[in-house]
Amino acid sequence: MDHFLYRDGALYAEDVPISEIAAAVGTPFYVYSTATLLRHFQLFDDALEGTEHLVCYAMKAASNQAILKTLAQAGAGMDVVSGGEYLRAKAAGVSGDKIVFSGVGKTVDEIRTALTGGIRQFNVESEPEMEVINAVALELGVVAPITVRVNPDVDAKTHAKIATGKSENKFGIPIARASEVYAHAASLPGLEVIGIDVHIGSQLTELEPFELAYTKVAELTEQLRAEGHNIRRLDLGGGLGIPYTRANDAPPLPVEYGALIKKTLGHLDCEIEIEPGRLIAGNAGLMISKVIYVKSGEGRDFLILDGAMNDLIRPAMYEAHHDIVAVQEPAPGLEQQPYDIVGPVCETGDTFAKQRNMPPLAPGDLVAFRSAGAYGAVMASEYNTRPLIPEVLVHGDQFAVIRERPSFDEIINRDTIPEWL
Ligand code: LLP
Repeated sequence: MDHFLYRDGALYAEDVPISEIAAAVGTPFYVYSTATLLRHFQLFDDALEGTEHLVCYAMKAASNQAILKTLAQAGAGMDVVSGGEYLRAKAAGVSGDKIVFSGVGKTVDEIRTALTGGIRQFNVESEPEMEVINAVALELGVVAPITVRVNPDVDAKTHAKIATGKSENKFGIPIARASEVYAHAASLPGLEVIGIDVHIGSQLTELEPFELAYTKVAELTEQLRAEGHNIRRLDLGGGLGIPYTRANDAPPLPVEYGALIKKTLGHLDCEIEIEPGRLIAGNAGLMISKVIYVKSGEGRDFLILDGAMNDLIRPAMYEAHHDIVAVQEPAPGLEQQPYDIVGPVCETGDTFAKQRNMPPLAPGDLVAFRSAGAYGAVMASEYNTRPLIPEVLVHGDQFAVIRERPSFDEIINRDTIPEWL
């Protein structure tokens, strides 16, 4: 459920008409709903009630300061994957002891930044990285809390580009080597081994892969404890999918996911951490775009929008489906017609949808891409010198621009000309 609903024929974000925001900020833009972000965070927090836990929002999904602050004020921790994200989380007021540092190749500088500013734990991805964290910790005279990310070799049954838990993926250490790697970690004086980390992929639409992975983590917990490690925290990653197609998608609910966690790991008396990103932000955001032209092609009509693949890359990159709806609600019974919905970028890949049924649309009409709050704005680029589009946050009947559209001068002046030119 989200807070983007039609009222009297017009699409609203909470209590604000989308058309009013469009008139104020111009198109295209992203708009997020505070109530939806908080609702989704709360669903996870409630799902783990009765178990010591922390929901660490995977801020890679949408990392605007205003979004982070909204979630942090509700009690969320943050999962970061770079020094930049770490600093963003800190700038939004998140304290170090609620920040988890994931990511496949942490650099010395990033490790130093986190150890200096405070960190809940590093989720270590490899033995070489473990040694570097140890060395930086010793240099700073601190002890770095760590988990090791294990790769359980489980098929997440999701798009190949976002599956991470198979042995051929670059993530974590093979679970079969865990014993050896944990013994190595325990021998390093700059590290304190506190738990195990696992993340098998994103946009999972079934619980079974989680169950397989978490069962392996439960077995590993007992084994490592028997080997003398004080395993007391389990970081279970993110990955729970969202319904991208309203009509017929029904992925498992956070409450069901929480019940599975309790069933597979509850008996171990560990603190549980989860790192959801998409489910918190995805359906809490829309991308709003305007029709520039309607062009009749050979046997098909194209809706040419002012939004493009540089603003929302998911369809081009993952063949992702986003529901696209007219901001002005079509009259009941109005006949729909198929359009190819495209952006103005000079690439065939700049196609959002093919032969998508839409009500008849004309230049100037607004459309909304649903489920665009996660991996939308954060993956945007300025390809074709198209400015990064603004982000807007709605809260009840208020809205605020939380990131401005840069001017062309700002974009151009970021380049510098060498003196020989
Ligand atoms: N934790 C770790 C270690 C991750 O790598 C990820 C996502 C998450 C948590 C959050 O997963 P979520 O709950 O959002 O599924 N750009 C792609 C998604 C990439 C996900 C990368 N890792 C997309 O647009 O579908």
